[in-house]
Amino acid sequence: MRKKVIAGNWKMNKNLEESQKLATELVNIIKDEINNNAQIVICAPFTSLYAISSIIKGSKIALGAQNCYTKNSGAYTGEISTEMLKSVGVSYVIIGHSERREYFTESNAFLAEKINAVLAHDMTPIFCCGETLSQREQGIHIDFVNAQLSESLFHLSDSDIQKVVIAYEPIWAIGTGVTASTAQAQEMHELIRKHIASKYGNDIAEKIIIQYGGSMKPENAKELLSCKDVDGGLIGGASLKARDFVDIIKNA
Ligand code: 13P
Repeated sequence: MRKKVIAGNWKMNKNLEESQKLATELVNIIKDEINNNAQIVICAPFTSLYAISSIIKGSKIALGAQNCYTKNSGAYTGEISTEMLKSVGVSYVIIGHSERREYFTESNAFLAEKINAVLAHDMTPIFCCGETLSQREQGIHIDFVNAQLSESLFHLSDSDIQKVVIAYEPIWAIGTGVTASTAQAQEMHELIRKHIASKYGNDIAEKIIIQYGGSMKPENAKELLSCKDVDGGLIGGASLKARDFVDIIKNA
């Protein structure tokens, strides 16, 4: 039985004070209301990570970052290494979010290096994949997502691939209020698992956690999270309100 992983991606929202307030609210509500064994993660901006790590200590919440660089240290002005993230208590790192692919032209090959950097510091990468609406309309979405997986993950060993969480995030569903139907989500998650099985075999593919992301909210979380191959959620907008995020976690 795969564990459900529910992660909030705060994106570029919440200054230090707002982050501390939201993290404190989450710790308190989750303590009172959540008794399932879902892994809860909050992926906060870099500037809030250190402060949040002490707020969530001893709670059910793990700390995540939204990006990292490939090198450990050196003359890379403005970048943050996985070693630095680890040192402030981070255990999950989002890699290859569609916003980074689009606005910062991150390629599959570059993301493969980021995956290696995260694994090298014993943290869990949350690897994002997903197609645009136009790719779906042209019927090339499955090949596109499979290529994202092959080019960024298929260099990994049998043991390392099992440490990766995959997030299927159709770009047309991100921040749009349009959610993939349960049939669309289940179909893509099953195909992603099959693609992994084609390289690593069924036993390994069955162990991989595949989250859904894209306008997940309390109203649709139950049906999405009850799909056979949907093992959690990567939540943007709804993770910025403690009440909504907790109401999603309840369905895990
Ligand atoms: P929304 O939940 O706001 O659609 O964002 C999804 C997402 O991009 C999470 O990484």
